[in-house]
Amino acid sequence: MTTRALFPTLLYDAGLAAPALLDELAHSIRTLAREDQAGRRWSREHGYKGYTSYASLNDLPRRDPAFADLAKLLVKHAATFAADLAFDLPRKPRLDSLWVNLLKGAGHHSAHIHPHSILSGTVYVEVPTGAGAIRFEDPRLGLMMAAPTRRADADEALRPFVTVHPRAGQLLLWESWLRHEVLSGAAKAERLSIGFNFA
Ligand SMILES: [Fe+2]
Repeated sequence: MTTRALFPTLLYDAGLAAPALLDELAHSIRTLAREDQAGRRWSREHGYKGYTSYASLNDLPRRDPAFADLAKLLVKHAATFAADLAFDLPRKPRLDSLWVNLLKGAGHHSAHIHPHSILSGTVYVEVPTGAGAIRFEDPRLGLMMAAPTRRADADEALRPFVTVHPRAGQLLLWESWLRHEVLSGAAKAERLSIGFNFA
């Protein structure tokens, strides 16, 4: 007798062994957070606790060589993940958007998906102690009319929610339809991350 696992949800988890690049990215994110007035205004008006370039800048890899270097690495990782997923694509996934996030203290980001993309992910640049984790949820939750809850010791693959406490240099990639949220943190220092989508 065997029990087979069908319809897996893959999470790609890698480390960027590039400490100098992370330092450059941290510097660039803090510079943007000081100087990007449109992004500062958008963050303020939308109750974002900190700064995000999500709505104000769409050309970071052309503006700043640190983001260009990161983009090259991301393209390679996305190609590997697309192969893991057995995606049948005419060409490599294309980096479609990339933005930075500087999140303060209890800042969080409620559950969402990334429409119009195939792969999405985050690179963690600085993660202070107590910084918010990222939580993924089973995409089938809405179908579970009478499904029992899972035991606390259930395998990760069987849990309806999986929380990842990121570390600096970590790169996570997932399929863009996978709902996720950034949980509220309790860190004193800033949590720096870079989000991106592949089309
Ligand atoms: Fe997201």
